Amino acid sequence: MSFNQVYQYNFPTTIRFGAGVTGELPAYLLSSKLRRPLLVSDPNVVQLDFFRKILSSLEAAGLSAEVFSDIHKNPVKSDVYRGTELYDNTSRDCIIGVGGGAAIDVARAIVLRVDHREDLFKYDDLIGGDVYVTGTVPHFITIPTTAGTGSEVGRSAIIADDETHQKKILFSPKLLAKIVFADPLLTMDLPAPITAATGMDALTHNMEAFLVNMFHPMCDGIALEGISLIHQSLRDAVKKPDLENKSKMLVASLMGAVAFQKGLGVVHSLAHPMSSLLDTHHGLANAVNIPYGMAFNIPGSEHKFKRIAEVLELNEKTGAAVVEYLHALNAAISIPSRLRDVGVKEEHLDTLADLALADFAHPNNPRPVSRADFRTLYQEAL
Ligand SMILES: [Fe+2]
Repeated sequence: MSFNQVYQYNFPTTIRFGAGVTGELPAYLLSSKLRRPLLVSDPNVVQLDFFRKILSSLEAAGLSAEVFSDIHKNPVKSDVYRGTELYDNTSRDCIIGVGGGAAIDVARAIVLRVDHREDLFKYDDLIGGDVYVTGTVPHFITIPTTAGTGSEVGRSAIIADDETHQKKILFSPKLLAKIVFADPLLTMDLPAPITAATGMDALTHNMEAFLVNMFHPMCDGIALEGISLIHQSLRDAVKKPDLENKSKMLVASLMGAVAFQKGLGVVHSLAHPMSSLLDTHHGLANAVNIPYGMAFNIPGSEHKFKRIAEVLELNEKTGAAVVEYLHALNAAISIPSRLRDVGVKEEHLDTLADLALADFAHPNNPRPVSRADFRTLYQEAL
């Protein structure tokens, strides 16, 4: 980090947090003079009871709700185009993203596309496309249904090309939700493996954000408290869920995503190629890789691992003890300890290492990561 530099700190999103808070949605829309929401979700979530309740509460308030849920698990450009068509053809006036990362990313990309009609990937942040996000955007509301990605407080959407599957990042501060309704009741019935995988994604966000070398004490404080909340609640949220541990996990996932405005690191770069090449669940890919990635990160960051060990209440305040903790946590929540247990084979390692090197997450890692390092880390985790 450098003190000859000016930093910017952003914490702009209104978060309504608490059990039952989605019940406030109709009144919020009415008071914002919004009457025709497009709800963007995924095919699983629209089947759930709470989604039907949200819809009927909107209808009861005299609002006209339309649902778009025909999206891919790893969203593609045509999903966004079809959703935007529905927005236009049914004269919507705002967008509500309800779901995990995929649904909220598609919702956010539709928010962009409504008034930005060049090819969607012209706005790709990795080629400087954010400068073209100059128009207005519809009122955007998010409702998370998992405690993991934290996409509900983000300002970017990852959308892939339909043919090449190459991932593009649409980014603009304009794409932040105006308000998040974070209701832990919506996460109560998630299957245990999803709670485990998404929870480890949230832990990875908090840990990687904390380790990024940037002077950002506000995010660092948020990340450490996020780690502490996950330490207090993830095991029970998976094995014996109740409102307290589910609430702690949901707020910790929001905190992780707020904190990673600092950046992410090596673990996400190990995980991303597994999703694009092998369709591995994002949280699961992070979970299996995090002990190995964190072991790699210890040299040079010993002082930060000491802080992490403190919030994890470990006897030994060292990086090695943190890595041990991560292995034990994975075991306790039934996450496999090896890449081979989630479908990775020796023959995949070279392609994975190439893709990981090209990934956007690791340039912020505190310790530089080479292709050889990625290859070695995959080999160790195999
Ligand atoms: Fe993530």
